[in-house]
Amino acid sequence: MYRVALTAPDDFDGWRGAARRLAAHDIDPADIVWQIGSDASDLFGDRPPPPERPEAAFTVPRAFVDLAQTATLHRAPERFALLYEQLRRIRSQRGAMDDSASPLLRRIDMLAKAVRRDMHKMRAFVRFREMPESEGSRYVAWFEPDHHIVRANAGFFVRRFTTMRWSILTPELSLHWDGDTLNEGPGASRGDAPQDDPVEAIWKGYYAAIFNPARLKTGAMLSEMPRKYWRNLPEAALIPQLVAGAQAREAAMIAATPRSPADDSPERNSVRAWQRLRDEAMGCTRCPLHRDATQTIFGEGPVDAPLVFVGEQPGDQEDLAGRPFVGPAGQLFDQALDAAGVDRARAYVTNAVKHFKHERRGKRRIHQTPDAGEVQACRWWLTQELSLVRPRLIVALGATAARAVLGKAVTISRTRGRPIALEDGTEAWVTVHPSYLLRLPDEAKRAEERARFVEELRTIGDRMKAAT
Ligand code: URA
Repeated sequence: MYRVALTAPDDFDGWRGAARRLAAHDIDPADIVWQIGSDASDLFGDRPPPPERPEAAFTVPRAFVDLAQTATLHRAPERFALLYEQLRRIRSQRGAMDDSASPLLRRIDMLAKAVRRDMHKMRAFVRFREMPESEGSRYVAWFEPDHHIVRANAGFFVRRFTTMRWSILTPELSLHWDGDTLNEGPGASRGDAPQDDPVEAIWKGYYAAIFNPARLKTGAMLSEMPRKYWRNLPEAALIPQLVAGAQAREAAMIAATPRSPADDSPERNSVRAWQRLRDEAMGCTRCPLHRDATQTIFGEGPVDAPLVFVGEQPGDQEDLAGRPFVGPAGQLFDQALDAAGVDRARAYVTNAVKHFKHERRGKRRIHQTPDAGEVQACRWWLTQELSLVRPRLIVALGATAARAVLGKAVTISRTRGRPIALEDGTEAWVTVHPSYLLRLPDEAKRAEERARFVEELRTIGDRMKAAT
């Protein structure tokens, strides 16, 4: 029997080193015991992993490394054994990572998905409470993750709250950031964190302001956001009243999507498919942008909208609010739509890239344009959104959106103002991005460009009305 002692429940490097050596010696999974810590290794005949065998070294696809790194964080004790088994398959079987029917791969995928969801929940539901200290305030949060995700999530909180001094306490591990260095401490208990502070009033106000009824799923709120998270959320006190009001508001929003009364009608099924897609996108790690962003900003609007607007990526305010086009560019966009007589509520509004790409300068988060690789990685979501909504017209706002919609780079000035037939028969239009108008320094030029933008939106609105 080979006994592998990993240093911690999230010791991916330890697992990888041992797994490579064991696989190079072709050791059977049944002959390996994976354990955390080294204390129990007194069984007769126990052996440590065999030595390196450079001649039997082999490479594994990047996709497996990423998957294994995530699945390792799951709480299931069998995760190390499952990953080892998959590693052996990769070694002996071409395309072992592409075998979507493989129950083993599906099981590992499910572990990784649960981990991603948990990481997302931690990012979304950690709430800091102020604690005075001699050096100034420290912000302390209590969080109970389902899996071993705390260390893996630390980088996110460091980047997001760089200038704050904070601690995140969890039952297994504590993180302490002093503005410069991240330290780890032992696990804590809920009573170690402060229970409320004056910042709560701000959270409550913010939450009420960004509360989006279209995102509310009461059932899911209880199953996916168990009450254990509510306990730590100051805004949870508002949930019952917001839920009550939201049901009426949601009904009004969904009314924009005509549907037959049957529960399994195609319309209702596509709403469900869209909800599943959006939920999946919430845990997206297809490119590195998810690491620094607060959350995925998915598209919104009627799932059978005849018109889709595609922007570039969420900005600072969208990243916090959880909705596309609500910041300064969104406000200009709303005014232009109004002026053009186009009803935003009848359109589906989304972005080419679903995470906010930015660079931190002091306390500010400065927008950065996504690169071609990031647009390509995110095109996967856009393509699925478009195939669910099946609009008559798609409007690309700016060059990044045009690249995502048309699949190639184009020059806005040469492409705007005329319909472009896409392969599936949809009509695409390209125009400027609203933030281009915000950035124009010359007032007269700004007014001229704004009028041109409104005229283009009017033409598009007329084509939509003619087509529906
Ligand atoms: N700019 C975009 O392209 N999309 C948004 O959602 C906000 C600003």
